[in-house]
Amino acid sequence: MCGIVGYIGAQQAAPILLEGLSRLEYRGYDSAGIAVSGARGAAKVFRRVGRVQALAAAVPAKTSGRVGIGHTRWATHGAPSEANAHPHASSDGRIQVVHNGIIDNAAALRARLTAEGVELASETDTEALAHLIARSTEDTLEAAVVSTLAQVTGTYAIAVVDAANPDRIVVARHGSPLVIGVGEREMFVASDVSALVRHTSSVVHLEDGELATVTATGFRTFTREHQDVTKTPTTVELTVEELELAGHEHFMHKEIHEQPSSVERMLGGRLDDRFGSARLDGLRMELRELRGFRRVKILGCGSAYYVGQLGAGLIEDLARVPADAEPASEFRYRNPVIEPDTLYVAVSQSGETADTLFAVREIQRKGGRVVGLVNVVGSSIARQCDGGIYLHAGPEVSVASTKALTHMSVGFALLALALGRVHDLSHADGARILAGLQALPGRIAEILADEQLIADAGRRLADARSLFFIGRVRGYPVAREAAQKFKEITYRHAEAYPSSELKHGPLALIDADLPTVAIIPDDDLVGRNLAAAHEIRARGGRLTVITHKGVDLGDLDADRIDVPRSEPELDPILLTIPTQLLAYHAARTLGEDIDRPRNLAKSVTVE
Ligand code: AGP
Repeated sequence: MCGIVGYIGAQQAAPILLEGLSRLEYRGYDSAGIAVSGARGAAKVFRRVGRVQALAAAVPAKTSGRVGIGHTRWATHGAPSEANAHPHASSDGRIQVVHNGIIDNAAALRARLTAEGVELASETDTEALAHLIARSTEDTLEAAVVSTLAQVTGTYAIAVVDAANPDRIVVARHGSPLVIGVGEREMFVASDVSALVRHTSSVVHLEDGELATVTATGFRTFTREHQDVTKTPTTVELTVEELELAGHEHFMHKEIHEQPSSVERMLGGRLDDRFGSARLDGLRMELRELRGFRRVKILGCGSAYYVGQLGAGLIEDLARVPADAEPASEFRYRNPVIEPDTLYVAVSQSGETADTLFAVREIQRKGGRVVGLVNVVGSSIARQCDGGIYLHAGPEVSVASTKALTHMSVGFALLALALGRVHDLSHADGARILAGLQALPGRIAEILADEQLIADAGRRLADARSLFFIGRVRGYPVAREAAQKFKEITYRHAEAYPSSELKHGPLALIDADLPTVAIIPDDDLVGRNLAAAHEIRARGGRLTVITHKGVDLGDLDADRIDVPRSEPELDPILLTIPTQLLAYHAARTLGEDIDRPRNLAKSVTVE
């Protein structure tokens, strides 16, 4: 979704802004722009529809100015166009603004400005901010920004430059992330640390309701009431190398292949052999408190919700505590009943998904306790939750999530183990799951070693206009996530069904043109799952079966992908891995832009 960068210091701003914007490309966008200011005069503004490369080509090499802001836009108010791209300016060009989020009362603000004689140059909500700041009668830029934001409802992260105050960028946050990067006699701002890591690892996160004045030599953070807030920079562990392709054709491929080592890193220090349990200090919970929960409710969006379903299964299996998952985007709008003995779990890769963040706040407002399973350290959801488990998957650039989802599953396994060991799970069973977790990296590596075979199966699925993914009980969340991955990057219609539901309707669609990917682990449901597969085959449907070595498919004519056996409760984690490669290789065959699927964003910060 939209991205913000800003620079002020001794270097030329334009190349730094453009490089920062290219680091934000993965978030998804449809247009981009920069405004660069020198010591005097209005800023030079460049905007283009399409890729950051197109914008870079439009910015003359001699563009000088040591202050600037930039933006990648994901259209909300108004179509993707040059006029709607950010930065947006006041009528005299003095004020330039970039903005992430949505101003809810934009229509009223725009109508008022028009009535006052302002000619609006775009259809955006953001433009209103630029005019309001410029028309403020306050004495300082900071006060003008505060008084403008007092008229606004909605969410925002903004960065403002003013030709009359060329020594500063003023930034503000409410509901959309914003960080300040601290350099040596130069400062940066960004909506995402990945735009800064080439320059600095020292960052300051703004909280909702906070503003900052950023100059070349430092920053001052303050509230809307103009009270100073003292902030100490923290160090981000992200390195620029982690954001490179490292020889892979796509980030998605790189991230799939990073899973053995990233999962091993995640497990480090968290497996408690002595008690056959998981060590989860980040939950900030005594064992007694953990034991007190009678129910677990998991909230996430999209793939995170599907993994939440997988996690609910793990918790019920290992802890025998009722657990379910719900899309956070539904939960937050339905006035949910919050129970004191329910453990709420918010799951998110980015930690910035607006629907999930608002669900967390709704639970907390009503007295519920929420822990987070979050990848991005210091993200909004991570900071909002009452404790949690960091996923430590490292950066994930591809919009289609793979390794972060695997880490979520592993996070749920750890949580289920910890909950299980304070409920009914025996030490022996705890030790069995621990051994299974320890073996996961090696087993994932075994699956990845079969990439050629999986790639061939993926290529054969590429010609289908529509596909089914089926699974039963533990296999159903796997099928849901597999279908999601496939549709996100191949643009093929892919739908998941519980295997037993096929005969209640969708079987009518089966023919030679509609292939099915069936998840058939070697568990006590294998016979029933094979029967469903035979029903499909009998109707001429093509099949790809993801199963365990040794499962006898009989005379079933199918593409077969084997995964190594694990502890049955952990099977879904491994069964998901080949589905990532299936989607990847089908999309590659189709020549799609795998890392940046159309219309999607890595981090969905709007409601
Ligand atoms: C995953 O491939 C998707 N891009 C998407 O469904 C994603 O999982 C969802 O938007 C939630 O994101 P989050 O994990 O950052 O909260």
